[in-house]
Amino acid sequence: MCGIIGYIGFREAYPVILNGLKRLEYRGYDSAGICVVDGEPFTIKCKGKVSDLENLIGKNSVAGKVGIGHTRWATHGEPNDINAHPHESMNGKFILIHNGIIENYSILKSKLEKRGYTFKSETDTEVLVNLIEYIYLKGNVTPEIAIRLALTKVVGAYGIAVICCDEPETLIAARKGSPLVVGVGEGEYFVASDATPIVEYTNSVIFLNDGDVAILQRDQMVLKTIFNESLEPNIQTLDLDIEAIEKNGFEHFMLKEIYEQPRSIHDTFRGRISLDPIDIHLGGLYNVMPNLVNAKRILMIGCGTSWHAALVGEYVIEDLARIPVEVEYASEFRYRNPIISKDDVVIAISQSGETADTLAAIKLAKEAGALVLGICNVVGSSIPRETHAGVYTHAGPEIGVASTKAFTAQVTVLIMMAILLGRKRGTLTEEHYQTLIQEMEKVPEKIEQILNSDSIVKSISERFKTTNNFLYLGRGYYFPVALEGALKLKEISYIHAEGYPAAEMKHGPIALIDDTMPVVVIATKDNSYEKIVSNIQEVKARKGVIIAIVTEGDTVIREMADYVIEIPEAVEAIGALLAVIPLQLLAYHIALLRGCNVDQPRNLAKSVTVE
Ligand code: G6P
Repeated sequence: MCGIIGYIGFREAYPVILNGLKRLEYRGYDSAGICVVDGEPFTIKCKGKVSDLENLIGKNSVAGKVGIGHTRWATHGEPNDINAHPHESMNGKFILIHNGIIENYSILKSKLEKRGYTFKSETDTEVLVNLIEYIYLKGNVTPEIAIRLALTKVVGAYGIAVICCDEPETLIAARKGSPLVVGVGEGEYFVASDATPIVEYTNSVIFLNDGDVAILQRDQMVLKTIFNESLEPNIQTLDLDIEAIEKNGFEHFMLKEIYEQPRSIHDTFRGRISLDPIDIHLGGLYNVMPNLVNAKRILMIGCGTSWHAALVGEYVIEDLARIPVEVEYASEFRYRNPIISKDDVVIAISQSGETADTLAAIKLAKEAGALVLGICNVVGSSIPRETHAGVYTHAGPEIGVASTKAFTAQVTVLIMMAILLGRKRGTLTEEHYQTLIQEMEKVPEKIEQILNSDSIVKSISERFKTTNNFLYLGRGYYFPVALEGALKLKEISYIHAEGYPAAEMKHGPIALIDDTMPVVVIATKDNSYEKIVSNIQEVKARKGVIIAIVTEGDTVIREMADYVIEIPEAVEAIGALLAVIPLQLLAYHIALLRGCNVDQPRNLAKSVTVE
C-alpha cells in the first residue's frame, strides 16, 4: 500500500529510484513521483503508473545523488497530480514521501492553518511535511529534531523518507506501523518499503522497528528512536536474489508465480519433512509445541486469500489433530470484542506480514494473554516480529497482486502443522501419518502435471471471456478452494463471482442458475463425491453450464459436465493444493482475454497497510 524508495550515495539517484518504483509498483499504482536533489531539489509527479511518470520525465536529465520516489495507493484525496507524492512544505524547506495514514491530520491541519499555512493537496502527508517545517522554522532546530518532534505529535501510521533542502546531503527515514527497510551498501544507503528494490545493490539490510529514525548520509548512518535514544543497527543478510523478483520470460508475474508452485511448495516443506526416516518438524514452533498440543482452541486470523488458507487450516487441523479451530477475518476480530483466553493459540496468516488489520488483531490477542503465532511469507516483516513464534512459508517474493503461490505455501504449512499435531496428540495412526507425509512429497510433481494441461484451461477460458457472473462450488476442503477461485476471478477479471459450499446452493444461489450461468464445481473423488454429483445434476436440470474439476480418469462427471479439467488423485487433506491450480489459471486466462491488467488490477494493492 504505497511504495516508497530513497537513495543517497555515489550513483545517480534517478535510475535507482525509477527502477525501484517499478519494483514497488505492486504496492500501489494510481500515481507516482520523484524528487532528486542536486543542490536544488527537482520534483516531478503525476497521476497514473510509473511508466506515465517516466514518459513525463522523458529525455530530461535528472541529475543528483540523493533522491526519493513514491508510487501511491490513494487513501486521502483522489489520485491526481496534486495529491501524488512527494509533497513539499509551504516554504519549500522539506520534501517528503509517506506510506500510511496520519489519523489526526485534520486537527494538525487546522492548527497549521491558524498559523498561516496553506495546503495544495487533500492529503494527510502534506500536513505532516508542513508540521515538520513549522517546527523547524519556529523552533530553530535541526531538520532531524524537527522531524522527530513532529512524529511525536502524529497519531496513525507512517513510513516516511524526507529531504531538507538546507541539508541536501542527508536523507531521513522513519517508521511506525508502515514497513521500512534500510539497505546498507558501501558509500551508499537505500530506504524502501520492502527489500525488492534494494537487493540488486546490496543484501545487507536493516528492518526498521516502530519508532525508529534513520539519519543517512553517504558514508554514515545514525539510528535512533523518535525520542532521541541511540540504537545499535541490526544488519541482516537477506537470502533473496534478483531472479526471484524478475518475470523470467513470463508475460506476467502472476503466471510466473502460478508456474513456480511446484518449486515454491517444495521450498516450503524442504528441510521440514523427510521420507527416510519419515518425519516432519517445524523448527519455528519447537518452543511452543506444548502449548499447541494442549491448546483448548486455535483461532486463525487473516484477510483475503490468507483468510481462505486459514479456512483450509480449520478443516485440516480439526480433521487430523482434533483441536477446535475458529477462523476470523482480522478486521472483524479486532472490532467485535472477541473472547480470547490464555489457553487459546492464535495463528495469524499473512503473505506480506504487514496487513494492518492482522497486525492490530495480533496486538489484541497478545494483550488478552494468548500465545500468538504467525505464518508469513516476507522474512523480517512486521507480523513475524510481533508474534511469539511462527513459520515462514518460503514461497519467495510474490509480486502479482492476486495471491497464488503464497496461498499454496500457507496451506502447505497448515497441513504440516496438522500432521505434526495429529501425531503428537495421537489422533493419527502411524500409517495415516506416514501416508500423509509421502503424499505431501508428491504434491510438486502433481502440480507440474496440472500445469502441463494449461492449454485445456486456456481453451475453456475463451468461451467465458464475456461472461458477467460465475458461481464456484465445493464441499469440505474444497469449499475454501471455491472461495479462493471466485476471489481470483473477481480480483483480476472484474467478473462477479461467488464461492459457495455446494450443498448450500439450494438455499439461494440456485435461483441465479440459467443457461448463462457458468458453475465451476470441484468434484474430485472423495467422501462427498456422490453428493457433489447430485449437485451437478441440480445445476444441469436448470441449464447451468458446468466446468468440473475432476480426478483424472473420471468418466461419470465427464458425461454430465460441459467442460472438464482433470487433476491427479490426492488424499483428501492435500487435495486443496491441487484443485486451486486450475482455478488460478482459469482466472488468469479469462482476465487476459478481457484485456485486464493481470498484475495490477484496479483499486487493489498487494500489501494493505491501512486499516
Ligand atoms: C490484499 C491482497 C490480497 C491478500 C490480502 C491479505 O487484499 O491484494 O492478495 O490476500 O491483502 O494480505 P496478506 O499479506 O496479509 O496475506
